[in-house]
Amino acid sequence: MRVHAIIVAAGSGSRTGRKLPKQFEMLAGKPVYRWSLDTFLSDSRVDRIGLVLPSNHIERLATEISGDERVVLVAGGNDRTASVRNAVEALSPDADDIILVHDAARPGLKTQTITYLLEVMKTHDAAAPALPVIDALKRQTDETLQTVDRSGLYRVQTPQAFKAGILASALADKAASFVDDLEAVEALGAKAALVDGDERLSKITFADDFEKMEAMMTGKQA
Ligand code: CTP
Ligand code: MG
Repeated sequence: MRVHAIIVAAGSGSRTGRKLPKQFEMLAGKPVYRWSLDTFLSDSRVDRIGLVLPSNHIERLATEISGDERVVLVAGGNDRTASVRNAVEALSPDADDIILVHDAARPGLKTQTITYLLEVMKTHDAAAPALPVIDALKRQTDETLQTVDRSGLYRVQTPQAFKAGILASALADKAASFVDDLEAVEALGAKAALVDGDERLSKITFADDFEKMEAMMTGKQA
């Protein structure tokens, strides 16, 4: 049984309004994508890492990463699901291998989260870090509000862990597109677990998230 990581870094980062895709911007001294790549590279439990990139960045990154044999560079697809699918195909895992799918835009990945995930994957088909929803939730219809019961509701992060066979089956329909990879396996009745999430695993989505993330990662207040 091997453990593969997939880092999806093939998006355009349009919501940041910056020229360069957010995963290649500098954050606390290194490019955003490099933070989670280094966390996976420093973890001896991780056998291989598929780094999914926009095709016009592959050549440059091949030089930047300079030949660690565990890293496989993969060209991205038209949406996130297609990027994950390309990486699963490129890694061609065995059905009982574990795949950890991670957003490059979440640079605050710590080894502890990988430990939590690998532990529950001994007894589950899928797992993800998640934090409980703490704000009150309202559904707005015209000018009325209705309180939504937030018990059992979670904000789900990445890495999301899967038995490789289940993830590959869930992605087999090339026309399918999912919000995240867990959604892909839900329809297959996968036995899934949530583990403790981490605020540092928040995603960089908008321009001001860079500053907040840097403060979180360097321990300074935003
Ligand atoms: N991603 C990818 N391939 C795509 C689209 C997204 O690998 N075709 C990756 C992004 O690089 C990011 C992660 O999926 O690491 C989460 O996606 P998101 O935050 O939506 O990033 P972008 O799609 O790049 O940003 P935006 O939606 O603002 O354009
Ligand atoms: Mg996107």
